[in-house]
Amino acid sequence: MNDTQLQASQPQASASRPLRAAQPSPTLSGRRVLLGVTGSIAAYKACILVRLLVRAGAEVTVAMTEAACRFVTPLTFRTLSRRPVALDAFAEPESWTPEHVSLADWCDVLVVAPCTADAAAKFASGLAGDLLSSTFLACRKPKLLAPAMNDGMWDNPATQDNFATLRRRGVCIVEPDTGDLACGTSGRGRMPEPEIVLAAATALLAK
Ligand SMILES: Cc1cc2nc3c(=O)[nH]c(=O)nc-3n(C[C@H](O)[C@H](O)[C@H](O)COP(=O)(O)O)c2cc1C
Repeated sequence: MNDTQLQASQPQASASRPLRAAQPSPTLSGRRVLLGVTGSIAAYKACILVRLLVRAGAEVTVAMTEAACRFVTPLTFRTLSRRPVALDAFAEPESWTPEHVSLADWCDVLVVAPCTADAAAKFASGLAGDLLSSTFLACRKPKLLAPAMNDGMWDNPATQDNFATLRRRGVCIVEPDTGDLACGTSGRGRMPEPEIVLAAATALLAK
């Protein structure tokens, strides 16, 4: 997606105003967003989300699972966020603090978009076998998940139970959209559009 398309996607754009005037005000100025990206075809939407967050004034650090790196490169997120991307729980950290602890402390909000069925299962079970799940477990800040998956995965009682558990624990879940899915079927499971996730993160930070 290029800049013109991004500007055109801003909800404030109207026929009477130039598109450039539709840039959002820096509503997230100085807020620190940790964006977890997991292994879904919807990872490309996370690229747009990073652009929107940065334009809204947020500092964004992206943490990717191994599977997410199969869909979008860390280089893309490093360039869009203008910050290093967190990938490896055992990498040599800048300070003595373990990476998952410093990331959990650093952020004002933890957003996982897209959130796979697998990641939700780990979060709901308290598993901490990789950088993102251990950061999620260590993090005491508000959390927001934007699920993305095949409709069969979404409808599965195991997935529904996992998201219900997370919701009960205070995690904010943005409901997935219904429509055409990348797997060729149609149903519920599409990651909500980045503008919707941005609005939900902004609302969560305003609480
Ligand atoms: C082409 C492709 C697309 C996938 N899309 C999704 C998806 O949208 N949602 C999902 O839950 N899993 C999806 N998967 C499966 C996950 O990538 C897989 O469960 C992986 O282990 C998730 O790892 P993570 O949660 O650590 O990122 C997809 C797999 C492939 C090969």
